[in-house]
Amino acid sequence: FMVDKGNHRHFMEKEIYEQPEIISHALGHYIDFASHTVKSTDKAIDFSKLSGLAISACGTAYLAGLVGKYWFERYARLPVEIDVASEFRYRELPLSPTQAALFISQSGETADTLASLRYCKDEGLKIGAIVNVKESTIARESDAIFPILAGPEIGVASTKAFTCQLAVLASLSIAAGRARGTVSEADEKAMVKHLAEMPRIMSKVLNEIQPQIEALSRDLSRFKDVLYLGRGTSYPLAMEGALKLKEISYIHAEGYAAGELKHGPIALIDENMPVIVIAPHDRFFEKTVSNMQEVAARGGKIIFITDEKGAAASKLETMATITLPNVDEIIAPMIFSLPIQLLAYHTAVFMGTDVDQPRNLAKSVTVE
Ligand code: G6P
Repeated sequence: FMVDKGNHRHFMEKEIYEQPEIISHALGHYIDFASHTVKSTDKAIDFSKLSGLAISACGTAYLAGLVGKYWFERYARLPVEIDVASEFRYRELPLSPTQAALFISQSGETADTLASLRYCKDEGLKIGAIVNVKESTIARESDAIFPILAGPEIGVASTKAFTCQLAVLASLSIAAGRARGTVSEADEKAMVKHLAEMPRIMSKVLNEIQPQIEALSRDLSRFKDVLYLGRGTSYPLAMEGALKLKEISYIHAEGYAAGELKHGPIALIDENMPVIVIAPHDRFFEKTVSNMQEVAARGGKIIFITDEKGAAASKLETMATITLPNVDEIIAPMIFSLPIQLLAYHTAVFMGTDVDQPRNLAKSVTVE
């Protein structure tokens, strides 16, 4: 069927702005808004008995998986082995049928992800698919299907599929935690309440930050290199921010764990390479701010993406500070995805690139 852009200039813009509504719909499949519990998911995977999880995916879906790793380990105390599918499939990773494997794919057709799935199947693991296309090959070859329900995604650079993948992974990690006794009933209620609030917060953020990000993107479009930093779940987000920038604006960007700054990228810091720091006021905040100080001390320009508490706590001078509302850590990765998507989008628009069909990229990569 046909999908159109509505009032938007590009599919990517439309897909960014439909996230509040789409996420709310997707969440409806996984959480009960009345009792604030996670609904029972596909029973083919019994999280209570697992010794570990393996996750494999490509591109943006892989970065969603990396956020999921932090959640499964923290909330469900489930060790996670994760790799990009093109490496995973050839690693000869020793696995056991006491583990389960999750494959994340918007299209459900990515060749390397499918090959990783078949490897895990041969090793006797139960297979779960986190997919947008329920009729896809990856879905068909899986024991359990966890649909992300994002609707058709046309922009090559993934936006709404990413935040929906995160919403599903958050719900599954809470469900896994309940099954394993590491998340209490009260914790579940509190976390699910935060998830339920997410669509409203997303609309508010999208409305509020747009003018500032558009103006900032004009400045950003003059640079050739950008470094993105983050810690904890903000680290995969930093990589996703960098990926979005390179994909559609063709600006060279790298995403780094903030703590690795001093092990290499610090040598590159000067006034010509802005450093975008993603730092909600969480338990890593002070550490990340000290990395920011290292950047500032070397004349680096900082774009600080934080929340109200974080903005109040930091005294550093920045090129720009994007202040989001204070939100619980379980929803922070989804909320902090919005400024990085908009920043890439508006920068690409200023540069005049083909936003929905960037050069050399394909929406779905069905060859190795
Ligand atoms: C391509 C797309 C990316 C996507 C990746 C994985 O590189 O351009 O946006 O993240 O493939 O695709 P999948 O369909 O498996 O999520």
